[in-house]
Amino acid sequence: MNINYNYINEYLDSLIGNELTLALTEMRDYAIKNGVPIVSRQVMQFLVTLLTRHKPKTMLEIGTAIGYSALVCHTACKNIGQELKITTIEKNSEMIYFAEQNFQKNNASNDIKPMLGDASDVITELNNTEQKFDFIFLDGAKGQYLSMLPILDNMLNTGGVLVCDNVLFSGMVAGDKETREVEFNPAILKRKRTIIARMKKFLSAICADPHFVTSIIPLGDGVSISIKTK
Ligand SMILES: C[S@@+](CC[C@H](N)C(=O)[O-])C[C@H]1O[C@@H](n2cnc3c(N)ncnc32)[C@H](O)[C@@H]1O
Repeated sequence: MNINYNYINEYLDSLIGNELTLALTEMRDYAIKNGVPIVSRQVMQFLVTLLTRHKPKTMLEIGTAIGYSALVCHTACKNIGQELKITTIEKNSEMIYFAEQNFQKNNASNDIKPMLGDASDVITELNNTEQKFDFIFLDGAKGQYLSMLPILDNMLNTGGVLVCDNVLFSGMVAGDKETREVEFNPAILKRKRTIIARMKKFLSAICADPHFVTSIIPLGDGVSISIKTK
């Protein structure tokens, strides 16, 4: 989902060159054809830019899908001679199977570790083993961003970066669009309202958190970037 006008998105997309590799182009084509949600090209380019500056050694991703963003991040670091180890969490076993195949095909299996399970449970396990990361990309389980924040904070090294995608949720987080929307399925409407309420709380919490300096960027579906200062 994109929150900007189409003509602005088309213009911004036109400024982004090719994918980093042909394999990534094929993965994006596959995702579009099969309705797999992956990061927009603008968010992809934003991640590549950040990683090129930040040069993390370790990264945690929540929301693997078919492994597209993990491979983008791995390739971006490889291109600047930085070895990046990624742990990526996905609750859907079919998705993770595809992701594993993609990591193998791209010779990245030694560096990218997929973990199957609900993100809340898996990060609790990782936190219990005192794992720390230089970069965290949160791109799944929108309703859990707020509850996961304390653990993610604990797992992020000082100076590390936390990037969260979809934080404006089609713009609904910023207004009352969902209440005007014609939604015939009451269960979906309820779920959307829960996500919106939790996302608002998450954004208020992270913007006020003294451990982080945060900006919310109206890019793609809304991205937050937080640098951990203490
Ligand atoms: C937007 S997609 C991730 C796209 C991926 N980061 C990319 O750009 O290539 C979100 C993924 O998060 C997964 N997901 C949603 N809720 C989750 C949860 N509670 N725990 C783990 N994964 C979850 C979904 O199954 C979905 O594959």
